[in-house]
Amino acid sequence: MAGKELQMIEEQEYKKRRKVFTKKLQENSVAILFSAEAKTRSNDTEYPYRQNSNFYYMSGFTEDKTVLVFVKGAKKTKSYLFVYKKDKTEELWNGKRLGVLQAKKRFDVDAVFEYSELASKLKIFLEGKHTLYYDFKLDYSKVKLLKRYAKNIDTFKNAAKPIQKMRLIKSQAEIATIKEALKITKKAHHIAMKKVKKLHYEYELQAEFEYIFRKNGAQSDAYSSIVASGNNANTLHYINNNAKLQKNELILIDAGCEYNYYASDITRTIPSQGVFTKAQKELYQLVLDVQKEIIALIKPGVMRTNLQKKAEELLCRGLVQLGILEGSVKKLLKKNAHKKYYPHGIGHWMGIDVHDESPYKDKKGKEIPLQAGMVLTIEPGIYIDKDDRNAPKRYRGIGIRIEDDILVTKKAYKNLSKKIKKEIKELEF
Ligand code: GLY
Ligand code: MN
Ligand code: MN
Repeated sequence: MAGKELQMIEEQEYKKRRKVFTKKLQENSVAILFSAEAKTRSNDTEYPYRQNSNFYYMSGFTEDKTVLVFVKGAKKTKSYLFVYKKDKTEELWNGKRLGVLQAKKRFDVDAVFEYSELASKLKIFLEGKHTLYYDFKLDYSKVKLLKRYAKNIDTFKNAAKPIQKMRLIKSQAEIATIKEALKITKKAHHIAMKKVKKLHYEYELQAEFEYIFRKNGAQSDAYSSIVASGNNANTLHYINNNAKLQKNELILIDAGCEYNYYASDITRTIPSQGVFTKAQKELYQLVLDVQKEIIALIKPGVMRTNLQKKAEELLCRGLVQLGILEGSVKKLLKKNAHKKYYPHGIGHWMGIDVHDESPYKDKKGKEIPLQAGMVLTIEPGIYIDKDDRNAPKRYRGIGIRIEDDILVTKKAYKNLSKKIKKEIKELEF
């Protein structure tokens, strides 16, 4: 597997991003980006560390206690990096750090300082400046620190906004990383499909995913895996994954790895015994047909809300054809009757975060159309609760979602997860 190394995207690309970012800043401003804090799990144990997504996007650096500062004057912009010092005792317990000297070699910034110097430098950087950019989701303690030094500042702006906008369009290197993530995720889904008959609990399937993810160099899952058998699939964020698998059930598996800080997000719904019942097949085929039809519409210029509308219309029509809803499709859509069975969105941006925090609307509130380089999921579903007396009995207790990760290309789209099996005949054995 290529690219086991964490630093896969080149410093030159990060530098380019920093340049684009600083171009968007106002004159006489300072922008400051902090690394994520290490988070306590309990007492003196910590959660595995994960870098702040925007900070990672601008640096590719995965250490905590790290800060990027941009100082923009009337003519010039300077960029500075603060890193934690090399400290033998610290390193004995917590591992090696890059340190100032190595950081100077790796990062193409104007200067690298020790993290402990941040407060004193900040004072100088902020002199005569009027605007301060920081991530509005920053921990309160850091905001307090910033405001202490920002006496002259009259305008505070959210530094996350321009970065989130930049993150909408993926570079070749980012797309390559997502593809790597998907290679591993494909492997895990295919192994789960093969092994399902022999397994007894949802968590055994989850374990297969986690094993394959780590075994193949992914750092973690991109989100908590959903392994929802039978009626559990009707809980959209089901993550208990502790039920016993039953015969003739469908199992909805929404699981994808994070590889070098890029997500994959895939759902497949498979039969527990390798065979669909007739009712399961009917519902599954409907969701699959809708998913394919929506994916086929993707191209630059298309609005995501139109994909949503079309998916709702197609699913509603299918629900009527199967006798799950009754009446005219037009009226049912108007009443939102279909939302009982399809309550969520058709998809979302994906990248460093599984739900990439990039904008869906521009500054004026107008929807941003699809553009080449965007990556989004397409994930229609149908969910019929076991106690839903309005639905025909044979469909009750079935939840189905099918989700792929799509790259918008210049001409249309590329389904990056196309090779992960989803046809009925591929899932039956
Ligand atoms: N796995 C979360 C989602 O599909 O959005
Ligand atoms: Mn998704
Ligand atoms: Mn998903």
